Amino acid sequence: MSRSAHPAGPRHADVLPEGHYTAPAADLNVLDEKVWSRTVRRNGDGVATVAGIEVTRLAEEFGTPAYILDEADFRARCRAWSDAFGSDADVYYAGKAFLSRAVVRWLHEEGLNLDVCSGGELATALAAGMPAERVAFHGNNKSAQEIERAVEAGVGRIVLDSFQEIVRVAHTARRLGVRQRVQIRVTVGVEAHTHEFIATAHEDQKFGIALAGGQAAEAVRRALALDSLELTGIHSHIGSQIFDMAGFEVSARRVVQLLAQIRDEHGVELPEIDLGGGLGIAYTSEDDPREPHDIAKALSDIVTRECESAGLATPRISVEPGRAIVGPTAFTLYEVGTIKPLEGLRTYVSVDGGMSDNIRTALYDAEYSVALVSRRSDAEAMLTRVVGKHCESGDIVVRDAFLPADLAPGDLIAVPATGAYCRSMASNYNHALRPPVVAVRDGAARVIVRRETEEDLLRLDVGE
Ligand code: LLP
Repeated sequence: MSRSAHPAGPRHADVLPEGHYTAPAADLNVLDEKVWSRTVRRNGDGVATVAGIEVTRLAEEFGTPAYILDEADFRARCRAWSDAFGSDADVYYAGKAFLSRAVVRWLHEEGLNLDVCSGGELATALAAGMPAERVAFHGNNKSAQEIERAVEAGVGRIVLDSFQEIVRVAHTARRLGVRQRVQIRVTVGVEAHTHEFIATAHEDQKFGIALAGGQAAEAVRRALALDSLELTGIHSHIGSQIFDMAGFEVSARRVVQLLAQIRDEHGVELPEIDLGGGLGIAYTSEDDPREPHDIAKALSDIVTRECESAGLATPRISVEPGRAIVGPTAFTLYEVGTIKPLEGLRTYVSVDGGMSDNIRTALYDAEYSVALVSRRSDAEAMLTRVVGKHCESGDIVVRDAFLPADLAPGDLIAVPATGAYCRSMASNYNHALRPPVVAVRDGAARVIVRRETEEDLLRLDVGE
């Protein structure tokens, strides 16, 4: 492995090209605890460790790229969320962020519930022994088979997302002779300050039933009229990677107003409200997420206040954090391949993965940070763009990041905060083999989702 510095690329002291970056950290060797999972350190030799294991050992044993998931951190975050919300509220982990059977078992052991949004996620939850009554089933276009499977399994709640679905779930439940507990997902008309593709409560999008124009009230009327449905509450999810509680405040207020309207019209006080997920995490040192305890207090204060003024008993609150639990608990470990300094621009650092293991940068303009983890370096900071190996120029993992100028092929770099929506949105683009998820805990590492193989790829290709 060559350690010699490559021809000089742009340095931070040079005129910097356009980008989102801020000045490089004073010491690039520091692994900011805000963005790295809790057991990440740098050892005396300068190698990063996680759960006491050197990343160089992980790369040797499991190969790169690999997602390294810090189990103790995951469990600690589950506990922080359930402690913060206490016994008067329920925390549903949003499985779409990342789901595997091991994760389902951790959730079960830590006392969390689970939100699934497809038959596949439901199958994973059930296969790992999650009691069905602790599962909530979401989706804007659940298939007849998915509805049947969910009702048959006895899921604790189905979140109804359209007028058609009210009827479909009611029919299935009646046919199977059960009374299915349901919530209605409403769109409250909040503009969440996040990327358009991950904002979900403004009216012009596909999710939920609008409060505006009385649509949600009509959905409630229809659900209450069907004996095979037990309407337990109203659901609202306003979007993702949100830091500002103002959107939740408006959402909670509008949901409580609907509860009051339901009481006035039907004489029924629905006992639950679900405020969804969407709480932001730190992807870079610039981000300042709130602690679960603060979030829980803010949400319960808002709901209590709104209910008091509407003369309602406070309903049981539930929340559905996905990213805020799993996001910070994993990093992606890559090996550096080619390095191209572009004079006056930046240095392109290619890694052995890319948009197939992290589509978020290309899709949402997401920002990430990155660090050299296989050694220390006291070289000066170099402005880089970390790119993948796919046949596409938008194949960017980290748009603007500083790495040491002596970076060389064979070095290991890692991108923190990739636990959410990276493996779960990974693809086989260019017939890439999706990386494994390696769980680390107390000095031990084990694969919880194995690396894909060429046999896996060819298995789906019938060859005719
Ligand atoms: N509840 C519902 C109903 C949701 O639709 C979602 C996310 C969540 C909870 C969890 O949101 P979280 O706490 O993880 O932000 N792929 C995008 C995020 C899409 C989220 C979709 N729904 C990303 O990579 O940012």
